[in-house]
Amino acid sequence: MAQYMYYINYQDYEADLCALEMRALFNKSIESKTFFSDLRIDESISPYLKSRLEVLHTTTTFEDLIQRIRESKYSLEAFKVQYVPVVKLDPVNKARKIITKSVGYAIEGFPSFDKPQIIYGVTYYEGKWYFGVVVYNTMLWKEHISKPYSYSSSLGINTAKAILNVAAKGDVFKKIIDPCCGVGTVLLEGHYSSYDITGCEIKGKVANKARENLKHFGYQGKVILRDIKDIDEVYDAAVVDLPYGNFSQSDEANMVNIIRHSARISKRQVFISSIDLKEKIREEGLVIVDESVVYKSKSRRFARYIWVCEGLK
Ligand SMILES: C[S@@+](CC[C@H](N)C(=O)[O-])C[C@H]1O[C@@H](n2cnc3c(N)ncnc32)[C@H](O)[C@@H]1O
Repeated sequence: MAQYMYYINYQDYEADLCALEMRALFNKSIESKTFFSDLRIDESISPYLKSRLEVLHTTTTFEDLIQRIRESKYSLEAFKVQYVPVVKLDPVNKARKIITKSVGYAIEGFPSFDKPQIIYGVTYYEGKWYFGVVVYNTMLWKEHISKPYSYSSSLGINTAKAILNVAAKGDVFKKIIDPCCGVGTVLLEGHYSSYDITGCEIKGKVANKARENLKHFGYQGKVILRDIKDIDEVYDAAVVDLPYGNFSQSDEANMVNIIRHSARISKRQVFISSIDLKEKIREEGLVIVDESVVYKSKSRRFARYIWVCEGLK
């Protein structure tokens, strides 16, 4: 079975959200920024997974590593070797030129520095050398930040990506609904990651903005103009960014309605809100299976609470 070495990174104020995303993607708590798993997750669906090294060799000395690479007789056109730092301020990184040169000489074939077809990664972590095929998060999704329509209250791109993965557990074949999609921040990330995702929005002008945002990036997304209470289809999961308001009685009634109907139309729900709705969620009889909080910036002034629920009502 393949073994992958992952490296994650995040801002301190996103630590809790990253931990939640990792629990959903890897079915376990991740205690360190570098970790191993036999699960192969596409790093570019996540804001926090930075690199994935498919481990081909592990040794305790560098000489043994070179020997093992030579014996494997890798022979590839257009390869490149990189040192992959997987700890903060990795002291070994300073010697990366000599390390990658030695590894490169142990591989048969022709290197290509400009257009490599495969990148071999080498790294040193907790007393062992690792060699394998490395891939990095493309970060191409960052272009969504400059979407044509946005609100100051729109979700941050990292939060949108992470909660989507929490909802679908990284399974892009799951059928997802964003029933209060606004201008489509989550939808953009869903389409980028090839999720089967549908948006729903009660306000026509806002739904049009979501459609325009999707079109701008060439996605053929579905945005339906509807109140969540009128949705009949059932989805595997719902990503629910609850509306912000002045918390009048009508706002509260709408919130409760959205929580209730999300559980009617989906088997797993991820609710996100700027106010604490834990009791309201419980009053609706929903089972909270995980939770987290994310802040907008390092000042930690603006919090968003996240609850993960399971069960179709
Ligand atoms: C917090 S915003 C979503 C923002 C979105 N995640 C984004 O980043 O652009 C909530 C949205 O839910 C919509 N909404 C409110 N009540 C709704 C309902 N009952 N059914 C469907 N959409 C609703 C609002 O019009 C608003 O656009």
